[in-house]
Amino acid sequence: MVNVRTTKLGIIGAGAVGTSLAYAALIRGAADQIGIYDLNPARAEAQVLDLAHGTPFAHRTRVAGGGDLDVIAASDVVVITAGASQQPGQTRLDLVTTNAEIIRALMPQLIKRAPEAVYIIVTNPVDVLTEVAADVAGLRRGQVIGSGTTLDSSRLRWLVAERAGVAPRDVHALILGEHGDSAFPLWSNATIGGSPIQDWVDETGAKIFDDDALADLANQAVLSAYSIIAGKGATNYAVGLACVRLVEAILRDEHMVTPVSTVLRDYEGVDGIALSVPCVLGAGGVQRVLRVAMDPGEHDAFQRSGEAMRAVLEEIGQ
Ligand code: 2OP
Repeated sequence: MVNVRTTKLGIIGAGAVGTSLAYAALIRGAADQIGIYDLNPARAEAQVLDLAHGTPFAHRTRVAGGGDLDVIAASDVVVITAGASQQPGQTRLDLVTTNAEIIRALMPQLIKRAPEAVYIIVTNPVDVLTEVAADVAGLRRGQVIGSGTTLDSSRLRWLVAERAGVAPRDVHALILGEHGDSAFPLWSNATIGGSPIQDWVDETGAKIFDDDALADLANQAVLSAYSIIAGKGATNYAVGLACVRLVEAILRDEHMVTPVSTVLRDYEGVDGIALSVPCVLGAGGVQRVLRVAMDPGEHDAFQRSGEAMRAVLEEIGQ
């Protein structure tokens, strides 16, 4: 018997987000094995069968799952999507009490089964829950991250790309802070094809990213989850794709730079709070937290995100 090193992705929660991630991982061949757990075994088993039936058309991936947490044992990355989800009219922060309890109960059980895994929290409010999860004893720094504003940044990049008429990949623009209502764009270092966004001109030579346009794009990016939830009850595809990229970056030690939520140490005056800032992501999770230059308005917005998170953490006795 040849011993081959295989990679395993564990997913907690077989709802819309967990299964979109599994589907994306299957299509991209992100991991050799996928283990999906759900509190409802019938749902987990049905999702696993449905995904497994597609494997002849995708990469060779073993998909298993059910209502026993052992399905995620020895995972290299575990993505947590379980918990109450945002309903129309609710903010992400409205979910905190229920979901903090779920994370507190889950983490020790997961760590027992996958002590070396990198844990990616997706459940909302993701920054608060990243902090709750990271508080569990025995974990390395960088081993727990929140998917954070990788998703908000991709929304912003798409919006900018649509307006500029270029590919989203050629837009570099970050949203930082809370993955929630206080998130803000770092326009001071946003570029399109390498040029500062403020300098971008259309075919007629007109600058199309003035202050009003930037404010409108930021607003759309930060609020877009609300309109998707109003229209179809949940967001799942973009977050599934964003998460699979985080998983790949870790499993392939890509040293990918992306904003994820991590407990910060003295970062622009924020200390001991999890918020998204650009990080280097690779084997083991967050390898480096990058310092970015913020203008005074961005610095203030970052403080406001920190204060909003501190208030919620105090509310739940964290
Ligand atoms: C999202 O932004 C609801 O946090 C989820 O899509």
